[in-house]
Amino acid sequence: MTQKTPDITVRWATENDLDAVEKLDETSFPVSDPEAERAAPGELLAGIQKHELLVAEESLGAKDKRTRIVGYLQYSTLRKRHKYFLAGVAVEPAYRRQGIGALMTAEFLRLLRRETLGAPMITCTTNPKNIAAISTFLRNGFVVSRYIPEFFGKSKDRLYLEWGIKRKMASSGHSVLVPVENLAYLSSILDEVGFFVTDIVNMPHGMYFQVDELRESKQEELDSNETSVSSNFTGILLSATAFLLEPVRDLRSIGGRIGVWLLALPILPMLEPVMNLISRWRTAQECTISQARTRCPAFG
Ligand SMILES: CC(C)(COP(=O)(O)OP(=O)(O)OC[C@H]1O[C@@H](n2cnc3c(N)ncnc32)[C@H](O)[C@@H]1OP(=O)(O)O)[C@@H](O)C(=O)NCCC(=O)NCCS
Repeated sequence: MTQKTPDITVRWATENDLDAVEKLDETSFPVSDPEAERAAPGELLAGIQKHELLVAEESLGAKDKRTRIVGYLQYSTLRKRHKYFLAGVAVEPAYRRQGIGALMTAEFLRLLRRETLGAPMITCTTNPKNIAAISTFLRNGFVVSRYIPEFFGKSKDRLYLEWGIKRKMASSGHSVLVPVENLAYLSSILDEVGFFVTDIVNMPHGMYFQVDELRESKQEELDSNETSVSSNFTGILLSATAFLLEPVRDLRSIGGRIGVWLLALPILPMLEPVMNLISRWRTAQECTISQARTRCPAFG
């Protein structure tokens, strides 16, 4: 798995990357910042070993093949499959605002959508003052659904974000702009049922959270969206293969993969109707907003 821009490649981290990732974590979440929450001891290594940590790597020169780790993104798989928590994302300060955070987030979403036939349930938390992180998540399809005071303890309030809601909900047309400094008002408005932060907008007199009222889409709209997603037969086959391979995720040898494909070839034409059924079943399994709020994985 690799995702490339001209000089940046996003790939799974290996234990050789651990030092660089730990340094990046120290720089990005300094102990001197009382609001920051760094990775727990051993957490980054565990992420690498579980294959749940991506790195962004810059190639420094075609000739000597030198590279440098400039970003990482770590997630964890929650108790049930298809539920994930985006634990952290960081980009080296000198490389920020060049699209690397967005690139890693997009690649992370692409991987999980492939692994779950397009229906992962992903959550994350971030500091309500961290405009860079909130923008990165909102621009990649997350919405902020809750404001949680003292989530990680004193002075560590967090916004709770969920991915997938925007896909299932439609705007009622009722929007409110809240200045990014007015967190008390933001918190009160997010307590209203159906209100979500969907964007950050830059106005001449400052930055604002855009809060939208979202309503459940009609089933027909959902069906047509799902159909358009699932009508691509090749996509279905790739998803199906990834799905079938998931239990043997550690089977990384090229020979092993080719072998699985060869065994699967004769049955591929029969898979389309089955995959359509699975896709419909998965959609039905997705949590509604109210379920997501009460069964939010981070709170068990
Ligand atoms: C959050 C972070 C990973 C973003 O990485 P990045 O590579 O700078 O982000 P990108 O360049 O991909 O920007 C993604 C979006 O966020 C916006 N954005 C990024 N930094 C921003 C800032 N400081 N102010 C306003 N918007 C910002 C970008 O404009 C972009 O939106 P666009 O596509 O509409 O232009 C990076 O700032 C970081 O490492 N911060 C320290 C660690 C941290 O706080 N991590 C989050 C904890 S969960």
